[in-house]
Amino acid sequence: MTSTAYSRQSKLPGGGGERRLPPRLMRGLASKIEPKKLGVGLIAGCCLALLTYVSLAKLFAIYSPVFASTANTSALMQNSPPTASKPSVPETEAIPPQETLAGGGGGGNAVDLPEAAGSEEPGLPEAVTRKDMPVAADSDEPGLPEALRRKDDGENAAAASEPKPSSKEGEGEQKQNGGAAAAAGEGKMTCDENGVDEGFPYARPTVCELSGDIRVSPKQKTVYLVNPSGAGGFDEGGEKRLRPYARKDDFLLPGVTEVTVKSSPSAAVAPECTKQHAVPAVLFSIAGYTDNFFHDMTDAMVPLFLTASHLKGEVQLLITNYKPWWVQKYTPLLRKLSNYPVINFDEDAGVHCFRAGFVGLYRDRDLILSPHPTRNPRNYTMVDFNRFVRGALALPRDRPSVLGEEPGMRPRMLIISRAGTRKLLNLDEVAAAAAELGFNVTVAEAGADVPAFAAQVNAADVLLAVHGAGLTNQIFLPTRGVVVQIVPWGKMDWMATNFYGRPARGMQLRYLEYYVGEEETSLKDKYPREHTVFRDPMALHKQGWQALAEIVMKQDVSVNLTRFRPFLLQALDKLQE
Ligand SMILES: *[C@@H]1O[C@H](CO)[C@@H](O)[C@H](O)[C@H]1NC(C)=O
Ligand SMILES: *[C@@H]1O[C@H](CO)[C@@H](O)[C@H](O)[C@H]1NC(C)=O
Ligand SMILES: *[C@@H]1O[C@H](CO)[C@@H](O)[C@H](O)[C@H]1NC(C)=O
Ligand SMILES: *[C@@H]1O[C@H](CO)[C@@H](O)[C@H](O)[C@H]1NC(C)=O
Repeated sequence: MTSTAYSRQSKLPGGGGERRLPPRLMRGLASKIEPKKLGVGLIAGCCLALLTYVSLAKLFAIYSPVFASTANTSALMQNSPPTASKPSVPETEAIPPQETLAGGGGGGNAVDLPEAAGSEEPGLPEAVTRKDMPVAADSDEPGLPEALRRKDDGENAAAASEPKPSSKEGEGEQKQNGGAAAAAGEGKMTCDENGVDEGFPYARPTVCELSGDIRVSPKQKTVYLVNPSGAGGFDEGGEKRLRPYARKDDFLLPGVTEVTVKSSPSAAVAPECTKQHAVPAVLFSIAGYTDNFFHDMTDAMVPLFLTASHLKGEVQLLITNYKPWWVQKYTPLLRKLSNYPVINFDEDAGVHCFRAGFVGLYRDRDLILSPHPTRNPRNYTMVDFNRFVRGALALPRDRPSVLGEEPGMRPRMLIISRAGTRKLLNLDEVAAAAAELGFNVTVAEAGADVPAFAAQVNAADVLLAVHGAGLTNQIFLPTRGVVVQIVPWGKMDWMATNFYGRPARGMQLRYLEYYVGEEETSLKDKYPREHTVFRDPMALHKQGWQALAEIVMKQDVSVNLTRFRPFLLQALDKLQE
């Protein structure tokens, strides 16, 4: 009864679940009338989720971020391949935001300002050794003035993000002559430093857009901007330093290469170009939590898409904290975003010159994109991102199957199994129940081969999984496909909603969540009913990530089919809406 988990459940669309439904696909067709009811339920569900998320956001600012199971924390920072023997990809978790013990603990207002928190979330795998995690340094985030300025600048900001027509014209000529013949034009830098995400506990990183005579020297980790007036967001020394990883996380930022943007009083004092590029640059880091599939998307691919996709391939990517295997793994996506081979910013010895560029990536929320005048002026949505991914990986399906269209064709359900924690103990039973209801069921564990697994997901109409990074694979589903998230015991609503539920809706997927009850978690064999995990799970959340990780995240679940079957039927219903 303390458990909202239970109360949540009864709120599920379609209600009650006690309706007796003929266990047949056929009945799905008969139920075409139901969608409206379900729709109402869904709306109610959304509101509920929204409220929950608003009110819990602060609380969740307590979590810390990192969580690497395969790699230990120091390994995380290094440019070494994952040590894991198991596919580290989607086996990982999303982890909630970190406690920012803000202001280095001096402040005391950390608690009131979760949105300033370092932020983080879904993190990595479990095995992590968090013990040695340094206390998160404070979140910086002054930058407001800058951000405001940028806002006033609306039009220019948008313009700056496109290769300027004028620069384009100039480029031909410049090619002959390295940038030595400096374009006299004033350089311009605009930075978005408004890390605060109102109502959400994660901050956003700084991103700077540059235009003019830009010279990138990887060797010096410096981007020179010929800027005679010295104006525009530089410090007294004419510099602006940033760590271009698309997640503002105090724990991992020290492991991200610091890039200096230097305001050069004249072209003569900037290094000479060894190569002139006719397209804009995008410089970013893949240090941090990448190689966790959730983070590969939230900290790199989605931000990269947001920052660069309007350039339609005419962009030069420069990657720092370069990991060859990572670049290889995502080559199809990188190729779709850029027509040019990636420059390894850690090793390149040249000086690359551009007329426009970005240092850092824009990001919105994890797997969520909303319109924004400067961050997302083109109003990209996650549906656009899905389309991009499908295009890059040649995934054929953009709609789920229409039931009854092809005789004998059964809707396909993919159940993602997990090898570590949060296993679905009675997976076979669930699969059998789904098959009995008419689904063509496949069970698979998400592996390191992204394109192959993506194809498997794209072939499905319904994706079912216990909460975990594997659910990130929903990005590969056909639009309007169905996601069923099984949420383990322990008040995991916020995570369930923000990491996967809201994203699913933003991708125009139909979304169902099943909250596991006390009887359905393996925790009942490990802890007495008087234990906090049953009495007051929220108290564990307040204790911080470690308690959560050691207790709540380490459960397996076994769903009660009497309760679960109606959700399978709803999945079927939703395919017909
Ligand atoms: C963590 O990683 C570092 C660097 O890769 C390594 O030296 C250290 O032995 C690792 N520690 C553990 C406990 O695996
Ligand atoms: C983006 O959406 C806003 C409203 O949210 C609208 O005012 C604006 O015109 C849109 N921009 C584009 C390029 O569609
Ligand atoms: C079931 O799905 C597999 C692919 O996952 C497909 O090859 C097979 O034809 C499907 N069977 C039916 C009856 O739909
Ligand atoms: C499964 O759920 C049903 C309906 O809530 C309940 O009556 C039954 O006791 C549950 N079974 C088990 C084993 O808990």
